[in-house]
Amino acid sequence: MAGFNAVVLAAGQGTRMKSALPKVLHQVGGLPLVAHVVKAAADAGAESCFVIVPPDAREFDALRLPIAARFFEQRDRLGTAHAVLQARPALETSSLPVVVLCGDTPLVTPDSLARLSDAIANGADMAVMGFKARDPQGYGRLITDASGALLAIREHKDATEEERAITLCNAGILAFRGDLILSLLDRIGNDNAQREFYLTDAVEIARARGLRVACEIIDEDEVRGVNTRAQLAEAEAIFQRRARAAAMAGGATLIAPETVTFSHDTVIGQDVVIEPNVIFAGGVVIEDGVTIRGFSHLEGARVGRGSSIGPFARFRPGTVLEAGVHVGNFVELKASHVGEGAKVNHLSYIGDAHVGAKTNIGAGTITCNYDGYKKYKTDIGAGAFIGSNSSLVAPVTIGDGAYIGSGSVISEDVPPHALALTRAPQVHKDEWAKRKRARADAEKAASTK
Ligand code: UD1
Ligand code: CA
Repeated sequence: MAGFNAVVLAAGQGTRMKSALPKVLHQVGGLPLVAHVVKAAADAGAESCFVIVPPDAREFDALRLPIAARFFEQRDRLGTAHAVLQARPALETSSLPVVVLCGDTPLVTPDSLARLSDAIANGADMAVMGFKARDPQGYGRLITDASGALLAIREHKDATEEERAITLCNAGILAFRGDLILSLLDRIGNDNAQREFYLTDAVEIARARGLRVACEIIDEDEVRGVNTRAQLAEAEAIFQRRARAAAMAGGATLIAPETVTFSHDTVIGQDVVIEPNVIFAGGVVIEDGVTIRGFSHLEGARVGRGSSIGPFARFRPGTVLEAGVHVGNFVELKASHVGEGAKVNHLSYIGDAHVGAKTNIGAGTITCNYDGYKKYKTDIGAGAFIGSNSSLVAPVTIGDGAYIGSGSVISEDVPPHALALTRAPQVHKDEWAKRKRARADAEKAASTK
């Protein structure tokens, strides 16, 4: 894998998205489009990336990228070559190969980018990624000679009828020798149908200088651009298909794969069984041998080896389950650590809590962690038994092995191995029900006479 710098074109406004957010910050698999592109570049060996962004777009400030990034504003959108040249200060100081790609093609794979940068490492001066377009309308066409060597790229608007019949198109991904890119781009003019500085003109300029221009071919799906919300949904569908395939290839069983939604960073172990309609939001790690039953929604959670969760489990950020934990239906966990072999099987809310190993949390247990101002911690020891329908009013500590009588409202710490009860004592009124019924029957008989 050869190192390179990536230049990511992301200065488009994306007007067709009808959004206040710049287009490339819309998400697929919970990750902004531009971050997908940078991640693919990083995985292909990119050392740093230079991102060309629209002017005054503060929304980019919060963007987190996996490699060193520098942002360059493009004030006037004068074309793709002009966009790349905004990164001149960075390009001048590095001689690594440069791969230029678009920020709105989230499905491009590291393999494809590596092929292009490898072409430069293997002696090409420039390399172009092409694809066979089902419908070439709008794309730049790859003009080749009889031997298949690339001569030029002709933009759709500048192409003759004959050239428009070509279906081999420019994917919009180009690679350059680092010490040549600026000298090629500085020679590009804007004498064309759109009065734009076309990056694609670099091919003809390189050929005229006797330089070697390589060409690689990829699948059209990888270069799918996102311009509309409908295309965003299509990209999401392809992303999800890939994520499901990867989970299955890694040894997980998905009973109805098309109903499971993954995030860009979901980690799924081996022999994991995922039932239908499960959603993984960001930051979920599922260890080996876990069963996730239907309709569970997980975010920011780690589920330990051999645990079983759901159906209808909801894990919010900060949930950590040790091995062999059982979480049943309608249980919400948030910022809580659940020890090995513990059980929370029915209808509970456990938030800001620590639950010790082998503790059993009865049905309907609620940690009252919030008083309207602040959040407080509930600490439950190991081997404890929390009776059903208990309220644990935080901050509160329940010792190892303690028992909580069901229906209790616990607001004071419970010592280890004690029984805590807060409900009123039970009373029996002998024969009360019998007397009540007799009285009611007598009244009924009197009224129907
Ligand atoms: C471009 C290619 C075309 C290729 C197609 C693939 C050129 C001249 N044409 O055409 O050969 O088939 O991509 O999708 O390169 N951008 C900027 N600043 C600019 C202009 C563009 O940042 O001044 C960004 C856009 O936001 C976009 C990308 O560059 O992400 C491509 O620009 P766009 O105008 O969409 O080029 P196309 O006409 O699609
Ligand atoms: Ca485009």
